[in-house]
Amino acid sequence: MSEVVKLERQDVIAIVTVNSPPVNALSAAVRGGIFECMKRAIADAEVKAIVLTCAGRTFIAGADITEFGKPPKPPGLAEVLDLMENSPKPIIAAIHGTALGGGLEVALACHYRVATKDARLGLPEVKLGLLPGAGGTQRLPRAVGPELAVKMIVGGDPISAADALKHGLIEEIVEGPASGGETFARKVLAEKRPLRKLRDDDSKLAAAKADISIFTNAVAALTKKARGLEAPFAAADAVRAAIELPFDEGLKKEREGFLKLVASDQSKAQRYAFFAEREAAKIAGLPEGTKPRNVARVAIIGAGTMGGGIAMSFANAGIPVTLIETGEEQLKRGMGVMQKNWEATAARGGIPADAPAKRMALIDGKVGLENVKDADLVIEAVFETMAVKKEVFEALDKYAKPGAVLASNTSYLNIDEIAKVTKRPQDILGMHFFSPANVMKLCEIVRADKTAPDALTTAVSIARKIAKVPAVVGVCDGFVGNRMLAQRGKQSEKLLFEGALPQQVDAVVTKFGMPMGPFAMSDLAGLDIGWRSRKDRGIKSEIADALCEAGRFGQKTGKGYYKYEGGSRAPLPDPDVEKLIDETLQRLGRKKRVVSDEEILERMMYPMINEGARILEEGIAARPSDIDVIWLYGYGWPIYRGGPMYYADQVGLKHIADRLSYYAKETNDPSLEPAPLLKRLAAEGKTFASLAQQSKAA
Ligand code: 3HC
Ligand code: NAI
Repeated sequence: MSEVVKLERQDVIAIVTVNSPPVNALSAAVRGGIFECMKRAIADAEVKAIVLTCAGRTFIAGADITEFGKPPKPPGLAEVLDLMENSPKPIIAAIHGTALGGGLEVALACHYRVATKDARLGLPEVKLGLLPGAGGTQRLPRAVGPELAVKMIVGGDPISAADALKHGLIEEIVEGPASGGETFARKVLAEKRPLRKLRDDDSKLAAAKADISIFTNAVAALTKKARGLEAPFAAADAVRAAIELPFDEGLKKEREGFLKLVASDQSKAQRYAFFAEREAAKIAGLPEGTKPRNVARVAIIGAGTMGGGIAMSFANAGIPVTLIETGEEQLKRGMGVMQKNWEATAARGGIPADAPAKRMALIDGKVGLENVKDADLVIEAVFETMAVKKEVFEALDKYAKPGAVLASNTSYLNIDEIAKVTKRPQDILGMHFFSPANVMKLCEIVRADKTAPDALTTAVSIARKIAKVPAVVGVCDGFVGNRMLAQRGKQSEKLLFEGALPQQVDAVVTKFGMPMGPFAMSDLAGLDIGWRSRKDRGIKSEIADALCEAGRFGQKTGKGYYKYEGGSRAPLPDPDVEKLIDETLQRLGRKKRVVSDEEILERMMYPMINEGARILEEGIAARPSDIDVIWLYGYGWPIYRGGPMYYADQVGLKHIADRLSYYAKETNDPSLEPAPLLKRLAAEGKTFASLAQQSKAA
């Protein structure tokens, strides 16, 4: 008998239970176990119906991703599903938790499906750069119609049990999975319901067969944001095959698409990112048994750009917030922005119509820092100056309850120094959110010198609770993300002095897959802040200074490195900027040269990777994959390129080190010399990934 799949009998009902924690993924053992148990149940003359259910927290959550890329082990999933769909006895899938990917495909090969109220059902394969490879693209359109199917398959988001019921994906919502499945099975027998095989039922395809635009319109809307990705398009093709071809031919087409994607560089990178994200939530070197502190209420200091977005993230997760400002007016403005934001989302159908009011009710606006007294976690998001931060933390030390975790959202400042003004440095850390904080998923968790292990896990676990992706980093200027970004900023500015234009640099960066180039990003953030800070420090940056002197502060003034017309956010190349750059270079006696796109790409990416190597060497990040997670979720690094350190491994560290040395000499910039770690790995023919393997082995 299989270890992970068990067969029991309740008189005429056979119950097949998968028990393979944590998520009952379809490993070879699980596939084999289901196959054997199904065969035995079908052969058992006493058995009249079969229920397939799972133990633990969820129904089957998909294929076992760790098996991809390894030699396939029998039985294949298709073989298991064939056996089930062709069973002469009805098979009922009883779903709880998440039926995802191959898990939902197993359920679709059953004759009936029931699910608990809080279950979610989906085909998220595209998020791993794949398409459903076990009949999902052929059976789901037959179950729910091509319009919803394409939304689930190309979009990748799961639907609720209520929606699944509404669209005919499940028959009933049940209390418990196993008991509900059994009761339903008895009903099927009592009512002598026929075996329903989705492969034979084309009724829901009729409308799209008559008018394919139903399908093509849905695809066009879904792939609008799929720039650079292969899987969404391949997945859409497979669904189209369900509409246009007989079942078996459609299945063949799906198989071909799946095999191609599973071997693709994009899917490998996306699978890497899946595990990197989960790895990042594990903190290296914590004492065993460290438990997070309880967080029932959060206080946020400052209702500006960041404080407001952070407060929204907590309210979105149902966690009550005390939002604290210096005056009623600031508070009113901050609360107003949040309300408008939620209302706009509700108007687009992104959240229910009553959600804005419900979420606003979770936020208690207050004036005065003494109002932090009930909070278990305090996040400070006031102005970015050390003096103000210290003042706030002195007050927090006085008013916060003992054991509360006190976090700063600072982008650059030294958390150790902030911690020193309190008598509880063990409770102090950084929680660096990214703008817009209600949207961006990254949260850099900054571990200071004296941060206690349980304060650190509290921050990591609460970040996950509010649907953020946490990554633990150490104290340094700009932490991981902004510190690397600064290297790119330095090069982009230098390139203008050598003859490149902002639009040329940005085009190379967006073609690579980043959402925005450095100059469009500067325009968005505003050029005046840097200008003022340069003036304070007596530093010059002739082109950026000249732009500001001409009143070009970026998007907010309609002009910066680009021009913006009619209130639009779309950057338009501006001949005036070209002229201004030319004049500046002439004034400085600089010669222009033709800078190739290849050079731009290398000078945008390699110095960042070099800084990543220094960050690893200093132990500011524990793993190269943590750095990748930071770039994927904080800066929109294209997921199909895995992250900067993963990308570096694909390019080859020797090539990167060589090019950095070359640019260091060619542009007379010693800061571009390869970091010792990069140099060493390049010389040894190794990858950054080899470091992670090493530390795991240690
Ligand atoms: N294969 C292997 N391991 C998996 C896995 C899978 N499909 N899904 C999750 N895991 C592992 C995670 O790596 C993690 O391991 P760890 O504890 O060692 O870090 C553990 O299970 C728990 O996962 P989470 O931390 O993500 O747990 P959550 O409770 O937050 O989320 C989940 C659970 C919603 C199931 C989430 O894990 C998830 O989305 N999993 C992936 C689902 C998916 O993409 N399925 C499709 C796979 S492709 C496929 O099925 C192809 C088919 O068409 C042939
Ligand atoms: P902001 O200027 O929009 O908001 C700051 C708010 O804090 C203001 O509303 C102000 O009234 C309030 N405030 C000041 N002193 C206060 C006090 N003593 N008590 C209560 N409220 C007080 O600034 P923003 O952009 O939200 O930045 C806040 C912090 O977040 C800074 O440390 C910044 O570096 C950091 N950050 C900013 C990002 C961004 O893109 N704007 C990104 C990530 C971090």
